[in-house]
Amino acid sequence: MVGKMSELERAAERLRRARRVVAFTGAGVSAESGVPTFRGAGGLWEGRPVEEVATPQGFAADPVRVWRFYDERRCNLARCRPNPAHEVLARWQDRFPAYTLVTQNVDGLHEDAGARAVLHLHGSIWALRCTACGRERVERAAPLPELPPRCTGCGEMERPGVVWFGEYLPEEALRAASRAAAATEVLIVVGTSAVVYPAAGLVQTAAAAGAVVIEVNPEASALAHLADVELRGPAGVLLPQLDTLLTAVSA
Ligand code: OAD
Repeated sequence: MVGKMSELERAAERLRRARRVVAFTGAGVSAESGVPTFRGAGGLWEGRPVEEVATPQGFAADPVRVWRFYDERRCNLARCRPNPAHEVLARWQDRFPAYTLVTQNVDGLHEDAGARAVLHLHGSIWALRCTACGRERVERAAPLPELPPRCTGCGEMERPGVVWFGEYLPEEALRAASRAAAATEVLIVVGTSAVVYPAAGLVQTAAAAGAVVIEVNPEASALAHLADVELRGPAGVLLPQLDTLLTAVSA
C-alpha cells in the first residue's frame, strides 16, 4: 500500500538528501523557552509604541527609559534556557556538510544550546556598544548595575547592541546569510512571522534560487506561500520529531 507521506516525512526526505542546509529562525523558536514573541496577543510589541524603545530616535529622546526596557528583557532572558528546538538546530551543525544557522533573535539561546558560528542579523541583547567610541563588550549581568551603562574605555554612554528599526543590519552577517541562502538546497524557516526586512528576504532569495523551503510554525507566516513543506505546530515538538525521523531514515 502506498500511503500518503506525512509532511514530517516529506521534510525528512528533503533533508536527508541535502548537503547544504540553512536554518533561519525568529522569536517563535524561543517561545517554548518562555521568551515572548513580538507580534500577536501577549507579544512584546503589543500595546507598546515600538518607536519609543526600538528606534535611534527613541533612544536619543530618553535613553534611560529605553535601557529600563532592555534591562527588564535581559533579566527575563537570564532565566530562560534553550528548548529542544534550539538543541536540534545546534546538533545539525554536525549532521550537514554545509550548515548555516541564521537568526533574528537577540537572546543567545542558540549558542546556549551549543550552536557555533550563528549569524546574528539583529545583534545581541548581551552586547553593549559605546555611543561615542563604538567599543563593544559582552555583559551578562542582569540587572545591570547602572542605567545607562558606561563604556569601560571612554566612560561615555553605551547602547544595547541590537538593531533598531531604521538601522542597517550588520553587513558581514547579512552578506554571509544572503550567500548561504542563495546557495542552499534546503532552507528551514522556524518561528518567524517573516514580515521584517531585509531578514525575511532570505526566504525569497532561497526560494528564487530553487531551494526547498520548509516552514515550522503553528501559523502560516507571511511567506508561507513559498514553502514546499509546512510543518504546523510548535518547533520544540516538531523539530525533535523531524530529527528522529532523519536519524532513522539515514541509518
Ligand atoms: P514575530 O513575533 O513577528 O513572530 C513570531 C512567530 O513565531 C509567529 O509567526 C508565531 O506564529 C511563531 N511561533 C509562536 N510560537 C511558536 C512555536 N512554539 N514554535 C514555532 N513558531 C512559533 O517574531 P519575528 O518573526 O522573530 O526585530 O520578528 C522579526 C523581528 O521583528 C524581530 O527580530 C525583532 C522584531 O521587531 C528587531 O528587534 C530588530
